[in-house]
Amino acid sequence: MPAVLPPVSFDPARGVAELRTPNSLYALRVDADGSPRHLYWGPPLDRAALDTLPAPHSPARSSFEAEAAADELAPQSGARFGPAGLQVRFADGTRGAQWRPAEHRITDGELRILLTDRHFPLAAELCYRVRPDSDVIERWTELRHTGGPDDGPITVDRLDSASWTLPPLSDYRISHLVGGWNSEFQLLRDRLPVTETVLTSRRGLTGHHAGPWLALDDGSATEEHGEVWSTTLAWSGSWRITVHRDPVGRTTWTGGFGHEGLSWTLHPGEQLTTPVFAGLHTSHGFGAASRAWHDHVRAHVLPDAEHDRPVVYNSWEATHFDVDHRGQLRLARRAAALGAELFVLDDGWFGARRHDRAGLGDWTPHPGAFPDGLRPLADEVHRLGMAFGLWVEPEMVNRDSDLYRAHPDWVVHSPTRTATELRHQLVLNFARPEVEAWALRTLDRLVRDNGVDWLKWDANRAFTEAAWPGRPDPDRLWIDHTRAVYRIMDRLRADHPHLRIEACAGGGGRVDLGILARTDQAWTSDNTDPVDRIAIQHGYSQLFPAATMAAWITDSPNGATGRATPLRFRAHVAMAGVLGLGGDLTAWTEDELAEAADLVARYKRIRPLVQRGRQYRLSAPDGVTAVHYAAADGTEHAVLVWRPATRFGHQPPALRLPALDAHAHYLDADTGLRYSGAVLRHRGIDLDLPAGDCASRLIHLRRHHP
Ligand code: DGJ
Repeated sequence: MPAVLPPVSFDPARGVAELRTPNSLYALRVDADGSPRHLYWGPPLDRAALDTLPAPHSPARSSFEAEAAADELAPQSGARFGPAGLQVRFADGTRGAQWRPAEHRITDGELRILLTDRHFPLAAELCYRVRPDSDVIERWTELRHTGGPDDGPITVDRLDSASWTLPPLSDYRISHLVGGWNSEFQLLRDRLPVTETVLTSRRGLTGHHAGPWLALDDGSATEEHGEVWSTTLAWSGSWRITVHRDPVGRTTWTGGFGHEGLSWTLHPGEQLTTPVFAGLHTSHGFGAASRAWHDHVRAHVLPDAEHDRPVVYNSWEATHFDVDHRGQLRLARRAAALGAELFVLDDGWFGARRHDRAGLGDWTPHPGAFPDGLRPLADEVHRLGMAFGLWVEPEMVNRDSDLYRAHPDWVVHSPTRTATELRHQLVLNFARPEVEAWALRTLDRLVRDNGVDWLKWDANRAFTEAAWPGRPDPDRLWIDHTRAVYRIMDRLRADHPHLRIEACAGGGGRVDLGILARTDQAWTSDNTDPVDRIAIQHGYSQLFPAATMAAWITDSPNGATGRATPLRFRAHVAMAGVLGLGGDLTAWTEDELAEAADLVARYKRIRPLVQRGRQYRLSAPDGVTAVHYAAADGTEHAVLVWRPATRFGHQPPALRLPALDAHAHYLDADTGLRYSGAVLRHRGIDLDLPAGDCASRLIHLRRHHP
């Protein structure tokens, strides 16, 4: 019997640390010069095999080459010429760290490599955590000024959470997410160029344009086959990840919070802790990588993954800023009749907010629209059997607001620069303790006084001219703002245990593992056109589980794209995540309302599969795509099939369902038809899609025990 190896170990004799997950091994070695260097990341190896790994060597040996071994966090000293994960400057102008022989500590699934500089009062801890049920390795760094009052400050120009290294591969390919407002989470898969490739957000938010997730493979991995290494940064402000494929065939990447050019000061006794940069290796393709991320996010990131995400009705697309008690109540009644479980009053309910130019920051109900406040609406919504949710955008302010008039200095700004307004708004500096305290007080009161069960927390602009006049360490606001957002959300949840929070930033502009640790789901995109959503949801699903992916059925033609689509297609696309409704229900016909009610009821039947099951992305010829959600125990399955455009009026070929058990039989929960698992796996199911564009189908199968 092979010995069971502990999940975390460090052997001082070999200087080797091992992190073992159920299906992978990550190993590093601390060399005599104190530097932790990468050793291995891949399928499990036993110790004897690990010890046979050849020392890394560069094929090009000369005095111009970088050292052959890759660092766990490159410290900007020695023969290292790639992107440094740690860049520090000491008071006398010396740059970079040089470590003493390292120590280590292991506690409860956590390894810490303790590093101290040979000369200066600087200590770093490289931290690693593994969990018994996850292949994800979580890494972060803690940096401390260990000096006394007489030591000068240390300037930190870069402090990454971790650097990662691939084994030598025959080629390298990168998968990552790009986009923009209304087009988030577009998956790109490109050959990795021999250069430094930077993925970044300089916007103070995670960003619509790039996401802090990437996957690397040798160019041959498919959805269900091949080795894939992927990583993601759990941070909701600016960030940077630099992937370095060097000309001698080594690929490493380093990442952390903050974009280039920022620097932070560490005074004696101070510490800077990075967010987690998590990594995952799988041998079974992009689909298995996504499933492992989904499991990890549900088990170890989301605050409450087990509760069913409610079917929401959100009023934004129906009424925009034109909200009042009567109009919202009319929508709420219709929504409740369709089966909605949560009614969210969106933007426009407060202050002088009749458009996007005024009122942001003044979080009291508009007296004309809600003469008796929000409580009567909340009470009615509750009476209709729904939870009551409220849209807020606490980090932002219009110049035309009482808040700005009272506290013009609360916004991030530089007195000598013109403050750029985006959507007529400015960013409040949450790094200022009094602003954080105001936001917490305001939100707490809103929730307490109005029976609020749900906050949709929006943020509709990027940071510009981000300075904090009079503050000696002004770049800290890029970190401290985000941390204040986290703290406020955490506090609100702790003080109001029933409260749920939806993350939003003009759609999916702030979705990452940092914000998801204190929210329940994210508003995926303001683009609710189902054809566009298929691509958006495909990218989103690479990392995030469906239980966090809010998706509404809205009006047709779609407000953003003008495309007309059948209700059933809109619903089937939205059912792949957390189903919601977002259209002007007062304009829907009786037939549409009846069909929508039926579709909502069908969603509720498959909801546990979508929100807690395992996801398989399927694609078939003729532009047909599908997503299969399987119950963890394999007893129940939901397959959503979409064909945006018909070809020649032909039926698509049968769709194979490889996640089914070939030895089992299945009954279609709607038609009662009985299928052999082997046939559905190896030959496929006939789709019988309705004629025309935007055809779709929901297949609901139950394992059958004859
Ligand atoms: C952007 C969000 O993504 C929308 O859903 C809506 O809440 C608007 N903001 C309101 O201003």
